[in-house]
Amino acid sequence: MRSLLQDLRRALEHETSLHGPLVPLDRPDDAPPPAASDDQDAHDPTMPNYDLFGNKVDPTEDASLPPSERIEALIPDDAPYKNMTSLEEVEAWVDAHELVPIDEDREHAVFGVGDPDADLVIIGEAPGADEDKQGEPFVGRAGKLLDKILEAINFEREDVYITNILKSRPPRNRNPNAEEVEAHLPILYKQIALIQPKIILCVGKVAANTLLDRSSALGSLRGKEHDFYGIPVMATYHPAALLRNANWKRPTWEDMKLLRTRYDELTD
Ligand code: URA
Ligand code: URA
Repeated sequence: MRSLLQDLRRALEHETSLHGPLVPLDRPDDAPPPAASDDQDAHDPTMPNYDLFGNKVDPTEDASLPPSERIEALIPDDAPYKNMTSLEEVEAWVDAHELVPIDEDREHAVFGVGDPDADLVIIGEAPGADEDKQGEPFVGRAGKLLDKILEAINFEREDVYITNILKSRPPRNRNPNAEEVEAHLPILYKQIALIQPKIILCVGKVAANTLLDRSSALGSLRGKEHDFYGIPVMATYHPAALLRNANWKRPTWEDMKLLRTRYDELTD
């Protein structure tokens, strides 16, 4: 208890040194007064949120904001697509710009496909050879299996939105490197912010760990629900992994049934 109090005091001293004396309930003089509202939870975009110390809350950490606003706040301010308002616009920008060396070597950028208002977004790792040729995600052997898996829980490819962490094919399908993730992940954030899905499915360890900023085994990622700034996320095996190891088909089926149940709860 004593050390807890000491920790608290130290945290307060640290806050004070960073932000000046505490202003517990007052707002800064120049802040507009709180708007009267019947709905206490309604978010007024003109009103920044303040914590007990009178400091503006990091929007990504502000659970009172809609997920799309929290996710948009993750995108660097100097990203030219940050304030774009449609997927077409972002896709045209991605097609026209090379951010990392794999963008120079691609035949096509692979942006994403499906319903721009989808309630379910599916995220893979990166395009392979077939995807690079056609400019569309999951069209090769793994993609055909993904379509079948979706059909098994009554989704058509057209009902959902499918994309990847990377928009360009890495040479010999190697894993994404840090520079590529840093350059391309904010594009995925923008896609999610525009689509505003009710739930996200990551296929494979790389997609799930990259989106959730973890480094876990697939076995510990699957079978449960994670949170991405207010959007539920589930993970399962990558269809390419299922083509190599049939033992993973049963747990994948369990994951997909769980996904369908949660999707129906979230969208009814
Ligand atoms: N594997 C992926 O992760 N994405 C694709 O688009 C194709 C194969
Ligand atoms: N390992 C992976 O990287 N992905 C899978 O889907 C399964 C095992």
